[in-house]
Amino acid sequence: MLPPGPKAPQALQTVEWIVRPTKFLRDAQARYGEPFTIRTAWSDAPMVLTSDAEEIKRIYAAKPDVLRGGDSAAFMEPFVGRNSLLILHGDEHLRQRKLVLPPFHGQALKRWTDQIAELAHAHLDTWPVGTPFKAHRKMQDLTLEVIQRVIFGSRDDALRDALRATLDMTASTANLIAMSLVQRDLGPYGRFLASIKHIDELVYERIDQPSTGDSILDLLRDSGATREELRDQLVTLLAAGHETTATALAWALERLARHPTDLTEDPDPFIDEVLRTRPVLAITARKTLQPYELQGHTLPAGVYVAPCIYLANRRGRSIPFGGGTRRCIGAAFAQLELREVLRAVSMRFSIRPVRAEGERMRRRSITLAPARGAEIVANPLA
Ligand code: HEM
Repeated sequence: MLPPGPKAPQALQTVEWIVRPTKFLRDAQARYGEPFTIRTAWSDAPMVLTSDAEEIKRIYAAKPDVLRGGDSAAFMEPFVGRNSLLILHGDEHLRQRKLVLPPFHGQALKRWTDQIAELAHAHLDTWPVGTPFKAHRKMQDLTLEVIQRVIFGSRDDALRDALRATLDMTASTANLIAMSLVQRDLGPYGRFLASIKHIDELVYERIDQPSTGDSILDLLRDSGATREELRDQLVTLLAAGHETTATALAWALERLARHPTDLTEDPDPFIDEVLRTRPVLAITARKTLQPYELQGHTLPAGVYVAPCIYLANRRGRSIPFGGGTRRCIGAAFAQLELREVLRAVSMRFSIRPVRAEGERMRRRSITLAPARGAEIVANPLA
């Protein structure tokens, strides 16, 4: 027997999960206590959620033959591909992780600091002055350019437009519901699949271009990856590496507009608080490969046990990047980017909200984003 949870049929829970993700989680926790079980079309088995700090630690530390990562991302496979770091598990996952992690960590990060600050300033030059605009979109443009430079060594506007067009298809609530519940090759889902084909053409063009020397594409090429493996890792890094960071930046600006703070010196406490109170991803999940004990329940093999970032952060524990061998490989890079961009904004602009009340957390594909796109007005500092 699985722990209790919402009794509505899977399709209705999927709609709730898309339309009111945070209320759905809060209501289920309040009504059923923890752990609780949800059923949505986004996973092939029920998900058992917890926000208990000790249990989460134990889940992230579990051996891979007990709890396995990767399976819960299967719904993203048509986009990221079967060789994606998000999908792989076992030895192959660890091998790919070891390959991609170093450029996003430690000393290697330092070389990006100045470049990110420079790009941030160039993008801030394009901000409208004194009139409302949606900062989320501006942040998507910036973070996509940053990650393209890291991955390819230069920007690529055709690929940028193709990626944004595809990801934007998963932003509207109506589209998301249609794509989650009716996966036919017609309608929104069919258009989504067709636009992925266009991305593939552009990515393969890039793969076939001569090496530039020290980009991540070169690193992956040198590892002997096949063209398809290269495509999958590149699309994964491009998407995971910009959409999440853009959303975190959008939240940071939405908050900053309402709580003016000087971020030129030490933006870290502000960033930590934004990531805690407005987590970009709501859950991380692992599949049980054998019976698993969770808070007095014995879960059978074949279901998901899922630390709920959103609920855990509300209890004061901040795990915006997940944990264990699946912890976000871009965490340090994202934090660096957040720091540099927010510092640049704080140096140049005073920003204020368009409306006084804070923006709701609204689902945009897998992320929780500001409902009105982080609407702000920016005025240059004297
Ligand atoms: C604020 C920005 C970001 C947030 C909030 C975020 C959050 C997360 C979370 C919660 C996970 C799942 C961890 C788990 O299952 O335990 C994850 C995984 C991942 N993230 Fe991020 N991320 C961010 C930025 C980035 C960036 C910049 C990159 C790439 C450079 C990136 C690449 C990845 C990859 C490849 C994985 C899969 C790791 C694996 O399964 O081994 N992320 N991220």
